Amino acid sequence: MAKPKIISISNVKGGVGKTTTASILASGLNARGNKVLMIDSDPQTNLTMCFIPEPPDDTPSLYHVYTGDKTLDEVKNSIKLNLDLVIGDFELCNADIQFIKTGRLKLLHKALKKLESEYDYIIIDTPPNLGILSLNAFLVSDYVIVPMAADSFSLKGVRLLKQTLDEVEEETESPIKVLGLLLTKYTDRTNVAKLLEDSVNAAAKMLHTKVFESRIRQAIILQESQIAKMDLLEYAPKAQVTSDYIKFIDEVLERIERGV
Ligand SMILES: Nc1ncnc2c1ncn2[C@@H]1O[C@H](COP(=O)(O)OP(=O)(O)O)[C@@H](O)[C@H]1O
Ligand SMILES: [Mg+2]
Repeated sequence: MAKPKIISISNVKGGVGKTTTASILASGLNARGNKVLMIDSDPQTNLTMCFIPEPPDDTPSLYHVYTGDKTLDEVKNSIKLNLDLVIGDFELCNADIQFIKTGRLKLLHKALKKLESEYDYIIIDTPPNLGILSLNAFLVSDYVIVPMAADSFSLKGVRLLKQTLDEVEEETESPIKVLGLLLTKYTDRTNVAKLLEDSVNAAAKMLHTKVFESRIRQAIILQESQIAKMDLLEYAPKAQVTSDYIKFIDEVLERIERGV
């Protein structure tokens, strides 16, 4: 069985477009003929809400995978052909305390070893912190993508992420690459964006990566598609923000192919 490429979407800041990017990347890779699994690893469950607005209370989730009661195969939900989702769970909001025992960093790693379904890509949405859920995600990931919004940039956050990735890398034999920084909510009308250019490049350097050339512009239609619970690519195929994301996905595939 070919090993899936595993990509975590991470930033210690909230509201920077992690979940939006995770859902569009997963849908876009699926639309290009790939079998994709999404894992909602944020207890706020925003990724889940993009696809399953109100899962019944007893729906098995990532929480049951962490407790060892269920396998990933048992909890995955089919969203459409070749696109599956493991739903998030508010119960995971105290994961840092609940799973405070040895081996706690490898719970997701163990679960993925048991995965029988074949996937080309696994996309993990992570919470805005560097707790156990993010560490578990990093430990299984080949790549990390870091979305950054012009209005809430934090170089300190990037430094902490780098430190954490370095520590995680010591725990695992396989390196984790930062595939790129993605500028989101971008508007070139603001001077803020221009002033940030240097800081963003410094952040990319710190993470040994590059900023994606495609910048995701600020666009209300994105929120509209989320409220309509629809895939942006289908909801607004001709919108400029859709072409931003399509170009971003092209770059993701290129960088993976080039081994960047
Ligand atoms: N490019 C964008 N333009 C306008 N709104 C956006 C854009 N990207 C994300 N948003 C909105 O910003 C909010 C936070 O985005 P989200 O992806 O949930 O961030 P995070 O997962 O990092 O907290 C959501 O309401 C989302 O619809
Ligand atoms: Mg989110």
